[in-house]
Amino acid sequence: MSMPSGGLLLLVIILQSSPQVTQPLQHLNLPESHLPYFFSSHHALARACEQDDECPYKEYIGKKVCWGYEKNCKKKNRFLNPTCTIANTGWGKAHTIEETADLFWKEADYGYVWERLQEMTVMCKPQREGDSSLSCVKHTRYCRATNIYMDFANLDSDNNSNRYRENLFNAGQIGGHCKLYPRRLSAEGDHKSALQSWYAELEMFSSLPFRPIHDDKCDIVLDKPTYLMKLDAGVNMYHHFCDYINLYASQHINGSFSQDVNIIMWDTSGLGYGDIFSDTWKAFSDYPIIHLKEYDGKKLCIRDAVFPLLPRMQYGMYYNMPLVPGCSGTGLYKAFSEHVLHRLNITQQGPLDKVRVTLLSRSTKWRRILNEEELLSAMKSESRLEVRRVDYNWKKMSFPEQLKVTQNSDLLIGMHGAGLTHSLFLPDWGVLFELYNCEDPRCYKDLARLRGVKYYTWEKQEKITQTEKGSHPSVGEHAKFVNYGFDPAEFMRIVQNAADYIQGHPQFVAKQNKMNGSGDRHTEL
Ligand SMILES: *[C@@H]1O[C@H](CO)[C@@H](O)[C@H](O)[C@H]1NC(C)=O
Ligand SMILES: *[C@@H]1O[C@H](CO)[C@@H](O)[C@H](O)[C@H]1NC(C)=O
Ligand SMILES: *[C@@H]1O[C@H](CO)[C@@H](O)[C@H](O)[C@H]1NC(C)=O
Ligand SMILES: *[C@@H]1O[C@H](CO)[C@@H](O)[C@H](O)[C@H]1NC(C)=O
Repeated sequence: MSMPSGGLLLLVIILQSSPQVTQPLQHLNLPESHLPYFFSSHHALARACEQDDECPYKEYIGKKVCWGYEKNCKKKNRFLNPTCTIANTGWGKAHTIEETADLFWKEADYGYVWERLQEMTVMCKPQREGDSSLSCVKHTRYCRATNIYMDFANLDSDNNSNRYRENLFNAGQIGGHCKLYPRRLSAEGDHKSALQSWYAELEMFSSLPFRPIHDDKCDIVLDKPTYLMKLDAGVNMYHHFCDYINLYASQHINGSFSQDVNIIMWDTSGLGYGDIFSDTWKAFSDYPIIHLKEYDGKKLCIRDAVFPLLPRMQYGMYYNMPLVPGCSGTGLYKAFSEHVLHRLNITQQGPLDKVRVTLLSRSTKWRRILNEEELLSAMKSESRLEVRRVDYNWKKMSFPEQLKVTQNSDLLIGMHGAGLTHSLFLPDWGVLFELYNCEDPRCYKDLARLRGVKYYTWEKQEKITQTEKGSHPSVGEHAKFVNYGFDPAEFMRIVQNAADYIQGHPQFVAKQNKMNGSGDRHTEL
């Protein structure tokens, strides 16, 4: 058999490249609907897949789509565009609806990723093969380093109670073999603060006289790509998902979603941390979380390290985020939700004929619903509703089980509280009904807007009864430390509105038709 030499060469390239390129392709583990977006921004992988007979993703390649932050990404090809109903007049300027949507997109959607990518600056430049590197966005809110060296001689993890010590490294204890631009780096120190930037950790970054890994200067070398995390909180869903969404956004900045990565918990106190949502880490890494104290006294080198966006950045996501009013639905939060659910194997089983309603019952002292039974039976008497009550208490129900219930709820009802962060995991046609916002009107309304689900809350103050205001030991008298009773008729009015919205939602209808359609075929057989 004769073959032109070009073909032979190609064959050799394919054979040689398949172990490196096809291997990760088999393990992409992305939701099916994300694959066209992944391949349209990973040209080398797309080409490799096209040339590989075994590649299972061929049908997803070459689609004219983009997440939104890529060069030359047209708006009409984006994963999702926000919907705005009112033009913004704030911030001293009148905007058109389209400008308002652009604002929202940059504040909270892939536009945020786009802006960070524009800011990316080389801080330490490799001079030859095998050198180190450091690049950061403005205010050192995100950085990526290669072949980085960190000497934890001063960690002293047994003795310190400060989670984010700022004097960890002396000169020469962190850096790499590369050409440093010290003024560029020091210009980005203005957000130096534990959960706002990585400046405290990186300000001592220096150009080392040796190549750390090549010259064998490390006690430990991490070959796997590694994310360093500074956490907001592991025990409050609202705050913890701020950690996760920023990690996911950071993966978009770096363009990598592999689970074959390390996650290091950057905590200089050496204390453990409580995490009641820890199953969520499985969406990001196949391995257990590594605590920083494991490197106490050691010289650590990492071949590829990402310092991700942090949960309390100024104008960051989503804590402290000023969100332009009147807009809803970001591609970023929708993709995040789908990504996490996919990786935790949680599927949508509906929609059903009935509207699936989940009432969150609290076993806490405050913000309980005084007449919960009455509200439940009012809903149960309505034939188009399928009603259940759950207590999202981690001691009673594992977090993945909770997510499964949420993803399979069309309407989620609950009192103000971190549990409403579950609205991130409602289906696209879902509704969050925050029974009472306890004088904190923006928090979960904004979260629902980010996710693009409809939001309702109590409207008529006079139709609520409450126990006397609780006096919390540290906060004092506050609307959050009270229990409430709700007028059942007014409650049902809002529930009916929500059910109408759900049953009229184009995606709910389309999915139901599809399910009815396949059901019919099934009975005909
Ligand atoms: C522990 O930390 C404190 C405060 O930083 C310091 O004063 C003390 O000397 C340290 N103890 C030891 C044994 O290093
Ligand atoms: C960042 O992206 C590069 C590919 O551009 C990849 O090789 C690397 O592993 C990624 N880093 C992390 C920490 O995921
Ligand atoms: C999801 O399912 C896959 C395949 O069945 C399995 O390998 C994986 O461990 C599961 N993931 C989780 C988080 O349960
Ligand atoms: C699907 O079928 C059920 C009953 O089998 C019906 O109640 C429902 O309206 C149908 N949905 C659509 C969208 O046709």
